[in-house]
Amino acid sequence: MGRPKITVVGAGNVGGTVAQRLAETSCYDVVLVDIVEGVPQGKALDLTQAGAICGYRSRIIGANSYDDTAGSAMAVITSGVARKPGMSRDELLATNTKIIKSVVEQIMARSPEAILVMVTNPLDAMAHVALRVSKLPKERVVGMAGILDAARMRSFIAAELGISVAEVQAMVLGGHGDTMVPLLRHTTVAGRPLSEWMPKDTMVALVKRTQDGGAEIVNLLKSGSAFYAPSAAAVEMVEAILKDQRRVLPCSALCQGEYGISGLFVGVPVRLGRVGVDKIIEFELSADERAALTASAHAVRDLCATVDKILDA
Ligand code: NAI
Ligand code: 2OP
Repeated sequence: MGRPKITVVGAGNVGGTVAQRLAETSCYDVVLVDIVEGVPQGKALDLTQAGAICGYRSRIIGANSYDDTAGSAMAVITSGVARKPGMSRDELLATNTKIIKSVVEQIMARSPEAILVMVTNPLDAMAHVALRVSKLPKERVVGMAGILDAARMRSFIAAELGISVAEVQAMVLGGHGDTMVPLLRHTTVAGRPLSEWMPKDTMVALVKRTQDGGAEIVNLLKSGSAFYAPSAAAVEMVEAILKDQRRVLPCSALCQGEYGISGLFVGVPVRLGRVGVDKIIEFELSADERAALTASAHAVRDLCATVDKILDA
C-alpha cells in the first residue's frame, strides 16, 4: 500500500508550512491546492527539490484544481484570508465561509472518506461550515486551535520559569478567540500545579498573553499571522489520527451535551485516533471555569448563527 495522501488547501504561510512538515516525515504524499496559479505548483516543486537534500521521499503535487486530491485520507484546510493588524478573527467570517463551503464541496466530491482538519479562521465557525457542507459524521471534522494556544501558554510559562517546555503541560479550552479558556488548575510544571511555581498575578498575566498570543504575532509581523506553530499543531493532529495514536489533545470538536454545550464546535480535550475525534474527554471543571467555557461557547454560537444565514441565503 502506498503512503496515505493528504490534501492541504491553501498554499499560503500555514498551508505551505504544513506541506513541508508533512513531506519531511516521508510518511505521506501531499497535494497542495490554491486558487492562485503557480503558487502551489512552485511550492510543490521547491519542496520536492528540498527532499533531494533532506532525504525525504514524499511525493508532493501542487495544483489549482482538485483532480489530484482524489482518494485523500485527510484534508488540512487553511484556505482563506488571514488577519491583518487591528483586524479581528470574526471579521473574516463572511469571506471565509464562502471559501470553506466551496473548498469542502470540492474535497468531498473526490475524497468521501477524508477526515477534515480545519485551520481557517474564525476557526470554530469554519469547522461548523465544514460539517454542515460535508454532512460528514461529527468524528471526521476537527478544528486546530487548542494545541496552538496551549503551546503558546506552555512556552510563556517555560520562559518565565527558565524550565524546559517539555516539563510544562497546559490545557486551553473554548473557542479560538478572545474568549478562549486557559485552564490554570489543569496546568502543571513537572507534574506540580502551576500555582506552586509562581504568584497569582504572574499566572494571570501569562493567561492574558496566551489569549492575545495570535494578535501579538500579527502585530510583530505587520503582514500575515503566525504559521510555524499553527502548522506544527495541524501536523500533530494529522499524525495522531493517521497513526491512530489516541492522544488527548485540545481540539475544536462538535459538542453534543459534553460540558453542557450542544450543537457547537468548541475547543475541548479530545482523543484523536484513526476515526478522527474518537471521544470528547470531560474534565471536571470549577464553576468559574465552566462559566468561562459557556461564555466562550456563546461567542461561537453567535458566529455560527451568522454563518447559517450566509449558507441559507
Ligand atoms: P495566507 O494568506 O498566507 O494563505 C491563505 C491561502 O489561501 C492563500 O494562498 C490564498 O490564495 C488561499 N486561498 C484563498 N481562497 C482560496 C480558495 N477558494 N481555494 C484555495 N485556496 C484559497 O494565510 P495563512 O497565514 O496561511 O492563514 C490561513 C488561514 O488560517 C487564515 O484564515 C488564518 O486566520 C488561519 N489561521 C488559523 C489558526 C488557528 O489557530 N486555527 C492559526 C493560524 C492561521
Ligand atoms: C493565531 O492564533 C491567527 O488564529 C491565528 O495565530
